[in-house]
Amino acid sequence: MATAAKLGTNFTGVQMSPKDTQRLMEAVEHTHPDVAGDDRMLMVERSKHNEEAERIGSVPIPGSVKGMLKSTFDMIKGKSPEVLIDKLGERLAFERSGVRLYDAMIAKVKAMNIVGSDLVKELQHIRDEEFEHMVMVEDAIKTLGADPTAQTPCADVAAVKSIGVMQVLTDPRTNVAQGLNALLTIELEDNAAWELLIELAEAGGHPDLAEGFGKAKAQEDDHLIKIKTMVRRDLINDIK
Ligand SMILES: [Fe+2]
Repeated sequence: MATAAKLGTNFTGVQMSPKDTQRLMEAVEHTHPDVAGDDRMLMVERSKHNEEAERIGSVPIPGSVKGMLKSTFDMIKGKSPEVLIDKLGERLAFERSGVRLYDAMIAKVKAMNIVGSDLVKELQHIRDEEFEHMVMVEDAIKTLGADPTAQTPCADVAAVKSIGVMQVLTDPRTNVAQGLNALLTIELEDNAAWELLIELAEAGGHPDLAEGFGKAKAQEDDHLIKIKTMVRRDLINDIK
C-alpha cells in the first residue's frame, strides 16, 4: 500500500535523457499523422454529431395518479416538475455513488492501519450522512409521485462523471492523499448541487422539500470543511 509520494525511477519526463529528447524533436518534424484530418476537422465532426444526436434519455411520466395530478397542476402553473425530478434523480444517483465511494475510501484507510487516527470514524460519519441524503431524495421523488428507481438523464450523466473518482478510489495503488483529493472533487460538487436543489424545490413550489434539503446542505457544508481539512492535514504532515 502506497503512502506519500516517493522519489523513484520515472522515465516519463524529457529531462531523463536530453539526447533522446533531441532525437524525439527531430522525429516530430519528419513524422506526420497517417490519419486524415486535424483539430479543426475534429471540431467540425464533433459539431456534426452534436447536431444529429438524440438527447440522453427522458424524465419518465409520474407513475402514480396522485403524482400525475400534482405534476399536472404544477405544469399548469408554469412550473416544470420534470426539471426538479431530473435533478432529484441526479442527486439520488450521486448520493448512492457517494456511499460506495466512501466505502472504497474506508477500505483503503483501514488497510493502512494508522494507529491513533480517527480517519475511519470521520469517513464513516460522512458516509452514513450520504446514505441519509440518498433516502431523503428517494422520499422526495416519491412525494412528487415519480419513480425513484427510474434513471433520469441527469442521473445518467452523474454516473458517467463519477467513473474517474471511483477508479481512483478503488485503485489499490492510490494513497490516502490521492483518495481524499478524489473525495474533495465530489464534495465540492455535492455542496453546490444541494444549494441548487433547494432553489429548484422553492421555485417549483415545494417549500417543504426545500426545508428538508436545507438540513442536507448544512451537513454537506460540514463534509466539505472536513474533507478539505483532511486533504490539507495529510499533505502538510508529509511535507514537514
Ligand atoms: Fe457529502
